[in-house]
Amino acid sequence: MLFRNAKARLNRRNLSPSVEAEYWKRYRIRLKDKNAVDGIARAGDLVVRTLDMIREHIRPGVTTEALNALVHDFTLAHGAVPAPLGYRGFPKSVCVSVNDEICHGIPGPRVLAEGDIVNVDVTSILDGWFADANRTFPVGQIEPAARRLVQVTAECLARGMSTVRPGATLGDVGFAIQSHAEASGYSVVRELVGHGVGHAFHEQPQVNHTGRPGLGIVLVPGMVFTIEPMINQGGLGIRRLDDGWTVVTDDGSLSAQFEQTVLVTADGVRSLTPYPL
Ligand code: MF3
Ligand code: CO
Ligand code: CO
Repeated sequence: MLFRNAKARLNRRNLSPSVEAEYWKRYRIRLKDKNAVDGIARAGDLVVRTLDMIREHIRPGVTTEALNALVHDFTLAHGAVPAPLGYRGFPKSVCVSVNDEICHGIPGPRVLAEGDIVNVDVTSILDGWFADANRTFPVGQIEPAARRLVQVTAECLARGMSTVRPGATLGDVGFAIQSHAEASGYSVVRELVGHGVGHAFHEQPQVNHTGRPGLGIVLVPGMVFTIEPMINQGGLGIRRLDDGWTVVTDDGSLSAQFEQTVLVTADGVRSLTPYPL
């Protein structure tokens, strides 16, 4: 109701000045104009190419530090900067999280083994623009139960993305994810959420992966945020390791995650980090 006139008052940057001001004032959300979207999309294209590159290196015997070096060098070679490096003291250029590690795993001497699942979360800064995406990969052959978790988690992201359009709400996004995860017998991590992204690594709004239809902030064209559900095979409890970063499941069960950076368009959604789900 508040912004039903938005479409009629679109200016040449495809943003209504009043909506732009209102979303800043109410929520501290920075709507993105065409120039910003183009910049984030270019960063996003590099993030996707980085994930495609890394996929070819995922196999038993590879260390997570080797994956870090590949991401670091590839990013610099393409004129970009790895956003994780030095972010709040994070010591590496990419997050690599294995099995019961939910997110923010620090690359190191750990060797990937047949049957593991490994998430690689890449955030690149290109010409000052940030894009953020991750995927969970199988290492060699994995158990059917692990395969199902990874598949359902990818579906959770796809379902969340499919709800995105002007007039929908963040509660719609969270509900689509939560209902599919829980109907599949899994739980949704609550403490870690998606986020606005583009000018900075983490912007407003917070994007919960749980929710109720119709509740929460109303989506408008020009919003750019990540959707990045973390889905646990077991309970929703989490712990943080003594390294200060790695988040793991409390019960030791597997956790999977997929993330894309999405734009709310005039009539729906566009991924700025598109890869098949
Ligand atoms: N890429 C993560 C996210 O999706 C954040 C990683 S923060 C880091 O938001 F410092 F661990 F890199
Ligand atoms: Co993110
Ligand atoms: Co990320």
